[in-house]
Amino acid sequence: MKFTNKTVLITGGGTGIGLALAQLLAQRRNHVIIIGRRLDKLQEAQQLTPELEIFQCDVADPAAIDALFASLQAQGIVLDALINNAAVLEMWDILEQPLPSAEIFNRVSINLAAPICLTQRFVRQADRKRTNYIVNVTSEAAIMPVPVLPLYSASKTGLSVFTQSLRVQLKNHPFVVMEVMPPPVESRMTTQDLRNSGPLVLPTDFALGLVKQLEAGKLDYAPGANAWQLGLIRRLAPKMGLHLVDKLSRQQLHTV
Ligand SMILES: NC(=O)c1ccc[n+]([C@@H]2O[C@H](COP(=O)([O-])OP(=O)(O)OC[C@H]3O[C@@H](n4cnc5c(N)ncnc54)[C@H](OP(=O)(O)O)[C@@H]3O)[C@@H](O)[C@H]2O)c1
Repeated sequence: MKFTNKTVLITGGGTGIGLALAQLLAQRRNHVIIIGRRLDKLQEAQQLTPELEIFQCDVADPAAIDALFASLQAQGIVLDALINNAAVLEMWDILEQPLPSAEIFNRVSINLAAPICLTQRFVRQADRKRTNYIVNVTSEAAIMPVPVLPLYSASKTGLSVFTQSLRVQLKNHPFVVMEVMPPPVESRMTTQDLRNSGPLVLPTDFALGLVKQLEAGKLDYAPGANAWQLGLIRRLAPKMGLHLVDKLSRQQLHTV
C-alpha cells in the first residue's frame, strides 16, 4: 500500500528526522503539516519544500495543542496520520547539575505527556471510515536505559509503554500504531546535544526506510544493530547490560 494522499501532522518536523520524513511524504503527494517551537526552522523547511504547511507550536504547552487542533478544525482539516517525533535530549547528572523542577516537568512533557495528549486529540478527530496512523518515535533507550540520559530514557520508555497499550486499546478500530526506534541518525540531537562520534545514518535514508516499513504494514521499526543486541541482553543479563551501556555510552559521549 502506497502512503499517499493523506494528511499528516509531524511534530518536530522543522529539523532532522522529522524534516526528512516531511519532505519525503510531501514528495509522495501527502498534505504535510509540520510543527515546532522555532518559527525560523519551520520557515526554512517551507522554503526548501513549499508544499509543507507550518504551524508554530510548543507541544509542552497544553494551550498550544488546543490552539493547533482548533485551527485544524476551523480549516476543515482532518488528519489521517500523526507522527510524534518531537523530543529533547540532555545528559544530566542529578548530583552535579541540579535542574529547576519546571525544567524537569518541561522535558518530560515534551517527550511523553505531549505525544499522549496529541494522540488523544488525533484519535478523537479521526475519520473512522478510513485507516488512521499513529507513529511514535521512541528510542533504543526504551529497550535499555542510558544512565547518563535519565530523563530521556525514562520518557522514551514511557512513550514505548504507551504505544504498546494503545495498540491493544485500538486493535478493533481502524488505527495502525507504529513504534520507531531510530539507530544513531545525523541530526542536531546526535551531533550537537550528544557530540556523538560514532557512525551516523543520514536522516533521508532513515526516513525512506521508515516509510517503506509503514507501507509494508510493519508495526515496529528498529533497524539499528544495537536494538536486537540490547533486547537480548535485557532478557539474559539486565544488570550487567545496564552497566555495559553506561560504560560504553560514557566513552562514546566523551563523559569519561
Ligand atoms: N537522531 C538520532 O540518532 C535519534 C535516535 C533515537 C531516537 N531519536 C528520536 O528521533 C526524533 C527526532 O530527533 P532528531 O534526531 O531529528 O533531532 P532534532 O533535529 O533535534 O529534532 C527534534 C525536533 O523536536 C522539536 N521540538 C523539541 N521540543 C519541542 C516542543 N516543545 N514543541 C514542538 N517541537 C519541539 C525541535 O524543534 P524546535 O526546537 O524548534 O521546537 C526539533 O525539530 C526524536 O524523538 C528523537 O528522540 C533520534
